Amino acid sequence: MTTSTTEVRVRAPGKLNLALAVGSLREDGYHPLATVFQAVSAYEEVTARPADDLTLTVSGLGADAVPTDGSNLALRAAHLLARATGVEPRAALHVRKGVPTGGGMAGGSADAAATLLACDALWQTGLPRARLAELAAELGADVPFPLHGQTAVGRGRGDLLTPALSRGEYHWALALRADGLSTPEVFARFDAMGGDGVGELEVPSSLLQALRAGDAVELGRVLVNDLQPVALDLLPDLADTFEVVREAGALGALVSGSGPTVAALGRNRQHALALAAAVTAAGVADDVLCVVGPVPGARLVAPVSRGGSAGDPAGPAPTR
Ligand code: C5P
Repeated sequence: MTTSTTEVRVRAPGKLNLALAVGSLREDGYHPLATVFQAVSAYEEVTARPADDLTLTVSGLGADAVPTDGSNLALRAAHLLARATGVEPRAALHVRKGVPTGGGMAGGSADAAATLLACDALWQTGLPRARLAELAAELGADVPFPLHGQTAVGRGRGDLLTPALSRGEYHWALALRADGLSTPEVFARFDAMGGDGVGELEVPSSLLQALRAGDAVELGRVLVNDLQPVALDLLPDLADTFEVVREAGALGALVSGSGPTVAALGRNRQHALALAAAVTAAGVADDVLCVVGPVPGARLVAPVSRGGSAGDPAGPAPTR
């Protein structure tokens, strides 16, 4: 190590899918998607320190359920970056989880995105964001988005991103489940339940218009997820969660991604807190979290990058 860098810390956001249209299974084992991602203020934080080999420790929300063997996406990200740049994969990685595990919010993908950025800084490999995004897509369909952040339309497997305009802030109450759903299993059940017909996959133009206008009421009306019936089929009592947030006046609610997290849209932060309180009081979730979106993608929070501040390292934080 030729630098005095002792620690690099990167934060990457979790996501909600505000719309998710799923097509028929492709030959490569993936489904074509048309989706709208919103990055939200639940964060994974990856710390990378100089070390003689590559190690990983995990703490935080649902850490016990996270594998630390070769299947871990953060370790795979470090190996991939090392291979792509010809450096030795040497780093002590620590992941502090703030995104629910197995909840359909791409926490593992955020770990991978944050690790790419953290190791790029630690190893001084200096890859441009566009190259990091290519490596991210090799790691998984959901990995490019946490690098990108904010709001984006995802096509292909969900990895081909186009930025989308969004005005204002959206406040969500998240109803979390201890029994996560496996993404491949949800997609397999989607196929077994008849999957999608053919036809063009599109995200509703009314949803993109609502985001451009900053119209939370309209956004709440047009939230849509083709995987929601599958999640409800696998976990029928999710219907109770929807009932509770509807009665508490949510502007809309949907399962995020492959679930089972239910995201309920509040009129403002206070209302999101009230929705979370209603979920807790009714006992229809194992935990709740309030988040706001959209927020920026993966970024260095320590050391602060040269020539400027790291923006607002504290940023918006989730509330319980
Ligand atoms: O790319 P990632 O590892 O996140 O995907 C996990 C699994 O989810 C895939 O192996 C596939 O079974 C399923 N999937 C899919 N279509 C997508 C994204 C994921 O079928 N667009």
